[in-house]
Amino acid sequence: MTESPLDFRFDDRVAKTYDAVRAHPPEVSERVGEVLAGIVGRGGRVFEPGVGTGRIALPLVAAGCEVVGADLSMDMLSAMLEQRSRAAGRLGLVQCDLNALPFRSAVFDGVLCVHVLHLIDDWASLLNSLVAMLKPGGVLILGRDWIDPASFAGMIRNEFRRSVVELSTTIESPPGARAFVHALAEQGVHPEGDEPEQVAAEWETTLAPAQLLDQIRTRDDAESWVLPDELLGRVMERLDNFAKAEWSSLTEPQAVTRRFVYSMMRKK
Ligand SMILES: C[S@@+](CC[C@H](N)C(=O)[O-])C[C@H]1O[C@@H](n2cnc3c(N)ncnc32)[C@H](O)[C@@H]1O
Repeated sequence: MTESPLDFRFDDRVAKTYDAVRAHPPEVSERVGEVLAGIVGRGGRVFEPGVGTGRIALPLVAAGCEVVGADLSMDMLSAMLEQRSRAAGRLGLVQCDLNALPFRSAVFDGVLCVHVLHLIDDWASLLNSLVAMLKPGGVLILGRDWIDPASFAGMIRNEFRRSVVELSTTIESPPGARAFVHALAEQGVHPEGDEPEQVAAEWETTLAPAQLLDQIRTRDDAESWVLPDELLGRVMERLDNFAKAEWSSLTEPQAVTRRFVYSMMRKK
């Protein structure tokens, strides 16, 4: 067996905290499931690579789609199985590496990618395989969580990313939605709609800057999962100084607008 490409990121510790940090509020989950099911068509068969704990797959099943999810991490899949009762409908799970997908061509009405492509070195090949798995007329959806860049949380995230790129000689900015859409266009699969990304749901949370800084420091926040200890220490020093200079109180909760956004492309 080849060595797993997964590192500590999706082990038992991350699987346990993933939903606590990333889960959508129930009404947002429901809305996201409804919007995505409306795009694919109720009863449609959807593949979700890197399905994780089923944060998006379970509401999609609840909204009437059949979902097949694939993930390499048994810990993430187990966390999903614990709440499988949320999905009264049809759900299939496969433990496999996304670099070697065991599916036939033209079998799915939809493919849904959420926070996964940037984790795969050869994401362009994965996109090729995913497009091949779609039936003609099937839809590829790229979804992601969006945080208002003007909020304190958005500002801390931007400063975090800037610091990582400046302080590290090896870590580069991960590819983003624009790179994926561009690669798909080269395969003749183009986005639908006038806007590059559409909003499935918007909601507000409140959090204090100190809480977010602690989540990054303790690696409960996904941003810091992969940073070596020494680099994380130096990044935190910069972030703490940045936050002190920006806000008079770091313990005062502030509102943060969040969205779940997506772009969609249909296979001809
Ligand atoms: C950030 S999580 C996203 C989970 C889910 N899509 C969501 O948005 O909540 C990324 C998932 O991709 C999985 N993953 C990463 N690399 C993988 C690979 N090479 N093969 C299969 N799964 C992989 C991880 O185990 C993890 O569950």
